[in-house]
Amino acid sequence: EQESTVSITVFGASGDLAKKKIFPALFALYYEDCLPKHFTIFGYARSKMTDAELRTMVSKTLTCRIDKRENCGQKMEQFLERCFYHSGQYDLEESLAELDKKLKEQEAGRLSNRLFYLSIPPNIFIDVVKSASKSASSKNGWTRVIVEKPFGRDTESSAALTRGLKQYLEEDQIFRIDHYLGKELVENLSVLRFSNLVFEPLWSRQYIRNVQLTFSEDFGTEGRGGYFDNYGIIRDIMQNHLLQIFTLFAMETPISLDAEDIRNEKAKVLHSMKPLQLEDVVIGQYKSHTRNGISYPGYTDDKTVPKNSLTPTFAAAALFIDNARWDGVPFLMKAGKALHTKQAEIRVQFCHVPGNLYKRCFGTDIDLATNELIIRVQPDEAIYLKINNKLPGLGMKLDRSNLNLLYSSRYSKEIPDAYERLLLDAIEGERRLFIRSDELDAAWELFTPLLKELEEKKIAPELYPYGSRGPVGAHYLAAKYNVRWGDVNTSE
Ligand code: BG6
Repeated sequence: EQESTVSITVFGASGDLAKKKIFPALFALYYEDCLPKHFTIFGYARSKMTDAELRTMVSKTLTCRIDKRENCGQKMEQFLERCFYHSGQYDLEESLAELDKKLKEQEAGRLSNRLFYLSIPPNIFIDVVKSASKSASSKNGWTRVIVEKPFGRDTESSAALTRGLKQYLEEDQIFRIDHYLGKELVENLSVLRFSNLVFEPLWSRQYIRNVQLTFSEDFGTEGRGGYFDNYGIIRDIMQNHLLQIFTLFAMETPISLDAEDIRNEKAKVLHSMKPLQLEDVVIGQYKSHTRNGISYPGYTDDKTVPKNSLTPTFAAAALFIDNARWDGVPFLMKAGKALHTKQAEIRVQFCHVPGNLYKRCFGTDIDLATNELIIRVQPDEAIYLKINNKLPGLGMKLDRSNLNLLYSSRYSKEIPDAYERLLLDAIEGERRLFIRSDELDAAWELFTPLLKELEEKKIAPELYPYGSRGPVGAHYLAAKYNVRWGDVNTSE
């Protein structure tokens, strides 16, 4: 049998994402012996650089896992020897034809598989895909393209992008990344639910009162204002990262673990929903704030952001799924930058115990006594269940405790970065964690009318101080559906 080889070309090789995530992830895969025997990595960008310069640049961001420090330096050198650089234009078939020549040299007559990673601005996606497919696609193996968001900014532009890609690629060659799908605890969501008898039967309106999906960062746009201002937090986090977790959480049991079966179920969730309503959404924007003598900038203080920008850096929304399982259950999402903490979690609040015998032991606030399941995606990955138990001792007082699976105490192994899993899947042709075109369309259908309305009506975001808990409007929104946000501060 002919030996095969995989060539990975990273377009936008000198960009932030490539330096911080893509090259380190490739190295980690190499270190873990997950890359095929024959592989080559090409950095591609416009600027002139030698192979040696690329290697120096890449080497600065490579790290070894704490538990695997042995031979680290040696492994890095071996890895860097497989990295090359090609300087070229993004829209020139000749540049890609030159790359093709270099790839062929490295492939040395083996069966060639090629992965192109577009870590570049979206306005040049199609140019690159066009020239790459004409001049640099594999003749005897597979050719795959990894695309990073933004996938458009509304239904129309996203559809145009997909049409553009599909002029040159088949659906199964397109790997749209949502890196939240590569996170360990997001991957674990289905395992938790479908392989534990105690959870799946509870997974419906019958036992679940509400579900909260939150993302918060304790820093602002910091230099990314130029990109961010054109998108805002709803497009940056909600329509993709949170919505992806949401569909995985809410989907029906897939027929199998095959990518198509899972993505079919995810798409069905989206098709069972109505577009978001303005009255179910709260937007905010951070303003400057001075604390302990340190002053933190407001969003519009960013030089790359227009002074009068109305772009939301915070949003909270209530979503509903019109199907038998979830009818009437509010799913609340909250995403924000420059908040008081950095955290991403899924919080499930269960219903009250009917006729609770211990009602009087809880005082007046029966809400405090309901069970909660929390899946903390980051930081400090954990799954914990809040239960009620008796406070030990004489008399009858109740306490609330956590049944806690804290990953760092349970496992000594470092958790791989999301990009490692996703790159490996793309190399292996596993599509489960990538977004299919119809899923993407459905996701945009839900958000586009709202986004248009916000922009057309020039709705002003509620200002919140940098480092705060965000606009109070989010609390009113939750209260409208009888929901209280879990306390993200105490990690409880
Ligand atoms: C990106 C967003 O997709 O996700 C950023 O564009 C955000 O604004 C980032 O900071 C968060 O990712 P993570 O993995 O650091 O939580």
